Amino acid sequence: MPTTFKESKFSDYGSKWKPSTHCYPKKNHNKRYQVYNFTRAYRSWFIPYIKSRIQPDKFRPLLSFLYTDLNCNLDCPYCYSRNKHKEGMTLQVAKDAVDWLQSVGCRVLAFMGGEPLIRKDFLIELTRYAVGKGFFVYLPTNGILMNEAFIDEIGKAGISVINLAVDAVDRHKGIPKYLNRIKSQFQYLVTQQQKYEYITFFNINITKHNLKDVKALTNIAHDHGIATDYHINEPPQIEYEHFQHGQNGAWITETEFQAVDELVDWLIQKNIEGYTMVNSVEHLNAMKLFIRRRLPPWPCLAGKSSMIIRLDGSFTPCMELYGSDEDWGNIYEGHNFDPNILSRLKKNCSPNCLSTCNFQVNHYSSSLTFSLQWLAKHAYSSFLGVS
Ligand SMILES: C[S@@+](CC[C@H](N)C(=O)[O-])C[C@H]1O[C@@H](n2cnc3c(N)ncnc32)[C@H](O)[C@@H]1O
Ligand code: SF4
Ligand code: SF4
Repeated sequence: MPTTFKESKFSDYGSKWKPSTHCYPKKNHNKRYQVYNFTRAYRSWFIPYIKSRIQPDKFRPLLSFLYTDLNCNLDCPYCYSRNKHKEGMTLQVAKDAVDWLQSVGCRVLAFMGGEPLIRKDFLIELTRYAVGKGFFVYLPTNGILMNEAFIDEIGKAGISVINLAVDAVDRHKGIPKYLNRIKSQFQYLVTQQQKYEYITFFNINITKHNLKDVKALTNIAHDHGIATDYHINEPPQIEYEHFQHGQNGAWITETEFQAVDELVDWLIQKNIEGYTMVNSVEHLNAMKLFIRRRLPPWPCLAGKSSMIIRLDGSFTPCMELYGSDEDWGNIYEGHNFDPNILSRLKKNCSPNCLSTCNFQVNHYSSSLTFSLQWLAKHAYSSFLGVS
């Protein structure tokens, strides 16, 4: 039975938001769906994780991001990860990348961009290919190009997660990703979740403009039994020629510090109450230090437990360093992730970066107990986040 879509007027959440009075709603997920999520996470996350513990010196990334396109149908003010009119990854490079990842023991593949749905047929074919090779495949999207036919096809191809990026409930100036814009897609996505056995969640970037909306979106997700994943808006680590919004990227300034602190405390409270969130309490707390530029260096595992494959098949450790000039290797010649170079690099970049993905990878893989918690959360709550 598909999940029942709870009819709600999103605008009500946006303008007259009130805290939810029921903190542990019964999620409408059936047993089969939960067992399937557990088994899939066990195979693609836990087994590779255990192998990486047994052979810590072997290069065995747990998670990889594949940039299929840098082009995008939107122009979010904070986004330096898109570059219009650039040729996307070819299907041959994409399949070779999957083969290479399989050969180094990785079983989690996240598409990245740009907007991956710019090429739907390409995505469907690639998803089918990667799922056939045993990968857990994750699709982040702004959802605008999604329609029912695509959801059905990507569902049949075996997608594991669809991560819907939304920053607000209603239209605001400078926020192109808002839920009411993709209401029908969201509705269909949620109702088909158990049929195709994928997981849906919201991906929300906390900026200076959407602090109230973050709460509203969190409650909408909770009321629909889906998880949330938060980023804190980060200026780029590297200067990008094509990035035109340098001064106007909705970056958080001193004026918003108190409001961000209150929001973070509210999110932590919801996390403790049982709202399903990808972010650990530790990561949420670190946001307060990050916005004040007081974050101490932290043990990022980019280039070891996670990695990026660019459009041409070359490597880089993380999204933040997409434009890195260093030669980190490629799918045809292997990797050059030198631990000494990475460690020197991270002393400088980690205090200016709060990568949601790498912070969680570090948290959940730092001990067997945390990784077991990760697995249990899958079974109970059906979430997973890698962005
Ligand atoms: C680059 S987008 C690519 C996939 C898709 N187009 C989307 O918007 O989800 C992936 C994620 O990066 C986040 N992101 C982009 N620029 C960011 C920034 N400056 N700081 C924090 N997160 C950012 C977005 O919010 C989005 O959720
Ligand atoms: S965040 Fe995603 S939707 Fe927005 S411009 Fe970047 S790639 Fe496009
Ligand atoms: S801390 Fe990690 S994720 Fe952030 S820029 Fe440095 S290497 Fe990349």
